[in-house]
Amino acid sequence: MLNLVLVGFMGSGKTSVGKQLSNMLNMNLVDTDEIVESQSGMSISEIFAKFGESHFRDLEQKAVEVASNLENCVISTGGGVVLRKKNMEFLKKNGVVFGLSATPEEIYNRISSELHRPLLKTENPLEKVKQLLELRAPYYDQADYMTSTSNKSVHEISEEISQIFLEVKRANERSKCSISE
Ligand code: S3P
Repeated sequence: MLNLVLVGFMGSGKTSVGKQLSNMLNMNLVDTDEIVESQSGMSISEIFAKFGESHFRDLEQKAVEVASNLENCVISTGGGVVLRKKNMEFLKKNGVVFGLSATPEEIYNRISSELHRPLLKTENPLEKVKQLLELRAPYYDQADYMTSTSNKSVHEISEEISQIFLEVKRANERSKCSISE
């Protein structure tokens, strides 16, 4: 059974949309950041501070592998998950990947009250958001479907995604009952 995977920049709405989708579709929700934290017994900030980003990326890759072996789950991911090719391969193996997009200003407005995120602990977080978004845009574009979150409610975004997901799932099930020549 297919997974529904959400990728996108920090503050693009993965967590809220993921919760809503999990309720709408009656699927369990898993979050790769939470898997990293529970498997390491440390918070993301602690991992970055003690071991640096590349160690975090290794733990994240392991968490992605664990999540991608589940079935019929909504998988919400950390914003940098797209940076490793292997992660996208794992996530697409049994999942439909939806990318959530937003402008740098919208992202900054959404996360300015939660600047605990290690990558945004800088003098000018808005500038940092712009830089990282530009750098990562081609990676987010590798999602199977991109959804803009601008001027939409969590409910609207979730409706849009769930309809596409259900169509893909139906087509997938149908294709299992066809005789290939
Ligand atoms: C990161 C995003 C964070 C978390 C870590 C790194 C990133 O997750 O994985 O701080 O590189 O964009 P959220 O997107 O859930 O904030």
